[in-house]
Amino acid sequence: MENTPFYFYDLNVLEDTLNAVLNSTKSDNFHIHYAVKANNNKKILEKIAAKGLGSDCVSGWEIEASIKAGFCPKSIAFAGVGKTDDEIAIALTNRIGMIHCESLEEILVINEMAEAMNYVPRVALRLNPNVNALTHEKISTGLSENKFGLTVLEFAELVTLMPTLNHINIVGLHFHIGSQITEMNVFEQLCERINEIVPQFENTIGKLEYLNVGGGLGVNYEDPDQGIIPAFEDYFDTFRWGLRKLNVPIHFELGRSIVAQCGSLRTKVLYVKKSNDKNFAVLDAGMTELMRPALYGAKHKIEKFNHVEEMFSELAYDIVGPICESSDSFGTGVILPELKRGDILTIRSCGAYAESMSLRYNGRQEVGNNLKRQVNTSLRVAKTA
Ligand code: LLP
Repeated sequence: MENTPFYFYDLNVLEDTLNAVLNSTKSDNFHIHYAVKANNNKKILEKIAAKGLGSDCVSGWEIEASIKAGFCPKSIAFAGVGKTDDEIAIALTNRIGMIHCESLEEILVINEMAEAMNYVPRVALRLNPNVNALTHEKISTGLSENKFGLTVLEFAELVTLMPTLNHINIVGLHFHIGSQITEMNVFEQLCERINEIVPQFENTIGKLEYLNVGGGLGVNYEDPDQGIIPAFEDYFDTFRWGLRKLNVPIHFELGRSIVAQCGSLRTKVLYVKKSNDKNFAVLDAGMTELMRPALYGAKHKIEKFNHVEEMFSELAYDIVGPICESSDSFGTGVILPELKRGDILTIRSCGAYAESMSLRYNGRQEVGNNLKRQVNTSLRVAKTA
């Protein structure tokens, strides 16, 4: 197989996943945004836009990429704890559907910039609900110790500022408590908090027209074939029941659960070596192509590509990349058929937070050098879509 490593995307899996999301939500006042940060590959964005989803962006670049890919500007939500003035200007100029605000200072800046443009954007307040997402601490966002969202105190201060905020229309609430969440009771707790907060919003700010509950639904990394389609039914049922008393459109911004299982990383074994009692398989992909294991200790299923089941002996391998960091490892003691130089491995569930988090460290990719990028981590999209 030439030119490894590369990300392989199966657009049939993406299609099935999108259909599952849409089928689980079609009879509700539910609106699904795709969290572009999970994977901003152009072909993937175009496919998701063509299905009629909105997008959830965290940078000016993501807003522009969404519009180019065909997302309707009115279906775009813009979030982020540190939006620059340039990025706010991109959001305002493109008349996107909703800006999610995370601090008082940001709200004042948006109000001022909108006034200068003689425009009144719709704004939602991101509140920190102080709910424990029971996930990896580095991808948990809804606790009061995290940097995200307005605190209850800031919310109270905002209420006193309302008469001066004439160029923003605060109509919504936004929450996001974390990622790779597999326990539905975490989302139940979020619903309970939302049910407490909505009356406070309506008593002080005004009628709630928009409620965004974020993303976060987890996927099966351990055994992706048993969980190609994530637990959308349970997830949406949880919100359908938990928020049944509210009569407001509910927005979701799902990233991982939409794209994780459609992607994998194909990589070649460069060398097999023994050290003390360990077998190492050194790959041509590293943390530069998939940094989740190095950053979060995440485990992705690793398989030998095109492997014939009957004839093999198994060995335990430490699967490592070529990058000059000890944390550049995809797993220790991974049981695989005996490997040799040139074998191809598939690292599964790499559709989300792999390509979009790829790095240039060790000269793996150079900014603006498209040719090199294609050689190192080019996209191969299944032609079957
Ligand atoms: N909305 C907001 C405000 C977010 O911060 C995120 C993800 C999402 C939606 C989408 O969440 P999802 O449905 O994908 O869980 N790099 C980490 C994940 C970071 C998630 C950041 N925020 C990882 O590789 O696990």
